Amino acid sequence: MMMRLLFIIFWTVTLTYCADHGTFKDCSRVDFCTNLRGREPSDNYAVDPSSISGSSDSDTLTATLKSNNGDSDLTLTLTGLQQNTFRLKITEVDSTRYELQDVLDGDPETLNFDNVEVGDASVTVTTSSGSNSAVINFSPFNVEFSKDGVSEVVFNGDRLAVTRNDVNAPFSFAVTYPQAVQLYGVHEHCDTLGLRNTGPNGTDPYRLKNSDVSNYEINSPMALYGAVPVIYGHGPTATAGVFLHNAAEQWIEISNQDGGSQAYFMAEIGTLDIFVLLGPTPIEVVRQYTALTGTAHLPQLWTLGYHQSRYSYDTQEDVEDVISGFDSNNFQLDAIWLDIDYTDSYKYFTWNPDTFSDPVGLQETIASTNRKLVTIIDPHIKVESGYNVYDGALNDDLFVKNADGSVFEGPCWPGVSSYMDFLKPEARNYYASMYSYDNFQGSTSTIAGIWNDMNEPSVFDSSLEMTLPADSLHNGSVRHREIHNIYGLLHTMATHQGLLNRDNGERRPFVLTRSHFAGSQRYAAIWTGDNTADWPYLLASFQECLNANLLGIVFCGADVAGFFNNPTDELYQRWYQAGAWLPFFRAHSNKDTSRREPYQMSEETQYIVRIAIRRRYQHLPLLYTLFYEHTRFGDPIIRPLFYHYPEDTNVYSIDNQILVGRDILVRPITEPGVQTVEIYFPGGEYEVWVPMTGSDVRKGTGWATVNITNRDVPYYHRRGGAIVRKDRLKSNTADMVDDPYTVYWTVDRESQAHGTVYIDDGVSFKYRDSTDYNYYNVDLSGDDITVTPIDGDGNYDFVIVALVRRDIVTLPKDDKPGTFKETIFTRHANGTLLKDIKIHRKEKTVFKFK
Ligand code: NOJ
Repeated sequence: MMMRLLFIIFWTVTLTYCADHGTFKDCSRVDFCTNLRGREPSDNYAVDPSSISGSSDSDTLTATLKSNNGDSDLTLTLTGLQQNTFRLKITEVDSTRYELQDVLDGDPETLNFDNVEVGDASVTVTTSSGSNSAVINFSPFNVEFSKDGVSEVVFNGDRLAVTRNDVNAPFSFAVTYPQAVQLYGVHEHCDTLGLRNTGPNGTDPYRLKNSDVSNYEINSPMALYGAVPVIYGHGPTATAGVFLHNAAEQWIEISNQDGGSQAYFMAEIGTLDIFVLLGPTPIEVVRQYTALTGTAHLPQLWTLGYHQSRYSYDTQEDVEDVISGFDSNNFQLDAIWLDIDYTDSYKYFTWNPDTFSDPVGLQETIASTNRKLVTIIDPHIKVESGYNVYDGALNDDLFVKNADGSVFEGPCWPGVSSYMDFLKPEARNYYASMYSYDNFQGSTSTIAGIWNDMNEPSVFDSSLEMTLPADSLHNGSVRHREIHNIYGLLHTMATHQGLLNRDNGERRPFVLTRSHFAGSQRYAAIWTGDNTADWPYLLASFQECLNANLLGIVFCGADVAGFFNNPTDELYQRWYQAGAWLPFFRAHSNKDTSRREPYQMSEETQYIVRIAIRRRYQHLPLLYTLFYEHTRFGDPIIRPLFYHYPEDTNVYSIDNQILVGRDILVRPITEPGVQTVEIYFPGGEYEVWVPMTGSDVRKGTGWATVNITNRDVPYYHRRGGAIVRKDRLKSNTADMVDDPYTVYWTVDRESQAHGTVYIDDGVSFKYRDSTDYNYYNVDLSGDDITVTPIDGDGNYDFVIVALVRRDIVTLPKDDKPGTFKETIFTRHANGTLLKDIKIHRKEKTVFKFK
C-alpha cells in the first residue's frame, strides 16, 4: 500500500515536471548531434599562406583553409567591426549555404584594419589602434582574439568540422574563453543563469530548437520556445562573447573551467558566421551585442503596468466583470487579455459571435476605464474556404509548402491549419494588413497590443517534434530547417508592422511573443511560456529573464503565479511580490485552473498582493527611465550581480537576486515557509545597501542573513543612488500621467546621490524621431537639489512633490548591521512647496529643501 502511495506521489510529481522526452529528442536521437559530439579533436585544416588577401586599408581579410581529410576546402573571411567586434565566417569555397537575413539590425558598421602582418606561421590583424587583434595561426589552425594584449576568445581549429550530406550540412566549432571561469547565454532554457557543464560528467548539450514544450522541466538543457545563440565567457579579468548568426537547430556543449572555459557549437545547417565581442566588461559586451541585433524600442507606458490574462475569459461580460472586480477592490490594472476563445472557431481576426457579440461595445467599456485590451493572434490559419484570411493567403501563395510543393496542412487549435510563410515579404505584408481596422472587423484602438503565441511554430504532431517538417519549404525554396529558429521573429516582424501601419506610426507597437530569436527585442516582448505554479518555476522566471536581459531581450516576464496548476496562497503572494520586479508583469493561467484574479483571493492575500502591485506602479518612472536608457545604450533593465560587480567571483552563480538598474537590489522570495533568507550584498567595504523593507543597513561585503516578513520581498537602495517614483495611488498608468514625482536619495559619504529621470508622452516615437522628451540628471548634494537637462527639449513637467533623503546613521560593523534615518521634505528652503518649483527644461535648476 505504502509503495503504491509512493508510486502515485512520484508519478504525479514527475508528471508535473516531466516534459515529453518521447517527443522532444535528446542529442543521442539526433544524427548530426551524435556524430559531431563524438568527433575527436583533430587538425583537419591548415591555412594556405599564399591565399591570404587583406591589407591595412581594408576591413576584410580572406584566406583558404585546406582540408587534409578529404572534406571541402574552406574560405575564411575575417571582418573588422566597430565596437571591439570581429566577424568570422567560414564556408566551403563554393558555398551554397543559406545566408541568414532579418536578424541583424542593419549591416554592422565595419572598421578598417590598422595593420595586417603576415608572418611565417600566422597572420595578425589589428584594429582600433592596435587594441584589438586577431591572430590566425596557420597550422594547427586557430584564431586568437585579444583585447589590449589579453587573449579573450580562441576559435579552436581542431573542433572545426564542415560537412554535407543529402539531407543537411552540419558544422561544428569550439571557442575557448581563456579568461572565463563561467559561461552564460544560449537563451532559452529553464536552467540556472550560469550555464552548467555538459558532456560525459554533466548533462546533454544545451539545445536551441524553438519548441512548444508542454510541462517543461526545471534545470534542463532542453530547448524551449526561443533561441538566442550567444555565449558570454566571464571571469574576473575580462568578459567576451560569441554570437553564432545562424537560425538552424543547434546543440552546445559547455565546459566551465578555471584557465579557460569552452563552448562547442554543433549546428544542423546554414552558415558558420560568428561575431566575436571583446568586451572587456559585461556592460560593454552587452552593448556590443545590442549594437548588432538592436534594442527594444521604448514601450508605451501602459505596457509597464499590470496585465491580467487567463486562458480564457470566455465572454465579454466576464471581461467587464473582471475590470469591475479590480476597480471595486482597489487593484491597479492596465490591460486585460483575450486568449484564443474570443475568436470564431480559432479563426484569427474574427470574434466569437455568441460570446463576444459586441466587441466594439466591450472595447468602449474597457476604454472608459482607461484600460487596454490585448488579443491573441497565432500564426496558423484555419483551412476553411470562405475564411477570408485563409482564402487570401492561399490565393496569393503565402503559405509554407511541403517538399513536393503542395501547401502544408497540419493540426493546431482550429484543426487543420496552414502556416503563413513569414519568410516571404509579401506574406508579412499581407498578415500585417490584417491588423487594419477594416480587416480586423470589430477591433478599435483599445486593442493596444497583440499577443503572438504558438509561433515556434507549433504543429500538433509529436512525430514532427510539434513543429513544421524540417524539409517543408519557404520563400525561394529555403528549407524550414535553415530558418526554423527565426519563424517566431518573422511572425512578430509582421505583427509589429501591422500595428505600425494601423496606427499610422503614431503609437509604439506592443507585441508579446512566445517564440523568439536574437534580435526579437526590436519587435516584441517575451514571456517564459507555460510554467507551473510551483516554487522552482518562480525562481526560473528570474533565471530566464536575467538571461534574456543580458541577451538584449529586456522586456521579459513570466506567467504570474504559474500557468499550470493552482498556487498555494503563499506562492501566489510571493509570485506577485517577485513578479512586480520583472520588466513585464502579467498574470495568466490555464483553462482548468481556479479563478485567481487578485480580488478573488482571501482578504490576507488581497492585502499583500495590493501592496505588490502598488510597488510596481510606484516604480514605473524608474522602469520607464531604464527602458529609455536601454534604447539608447543597450543596457539591460534587470541585471545579475556580476554585471556590475564583475570581479567578485562569489556572485557568478547568484541568480535569485537582481539589480533593477544600478541602484536597487531585490531578493525575490522563491522558497516556501521561510522567515529569513541569505542575501549577498556586493560591492565591497564602501558599497552600502539601505533597506526599503526593514531597518538593517548592510555593507557590500557578502552574505548576510536577513529577516523577512510576508508583506514584501526584501529590496535595497544603493548608497549614492536616486530612485524616481510616483507614490500617489491611481488605478492605472493613464490616471498617473500628471502625478508629481517622489525622489528617494540615499546619500553617500559626501552627502551626495545621483540618478536620472526620463519623461515623454508615453506613446509615440517622438522620442526617437525628434527631441520631444526630457531627460535629466537628478542630483542631491548636501541640501542642494540639482536637476540638469541631459538632452531633449520637450515640455514634460518634472514636478517633485516630495523628496525622501536617506542618511546612514551608523555603518555596519562586523556582523552588526548599520542604521539609517529617513527624512521626507516637501518644501523649498524658502518655504514654498516643492511641487510649485518649476524645473527649467533647458538649464540646470538648483534649489534647496527643508
Ligand atoms: C499556449 C500559451 O503558452 C498559453 O499561454 C496560452 O494560454 C495557450 N497557448 C492558449 O492560447
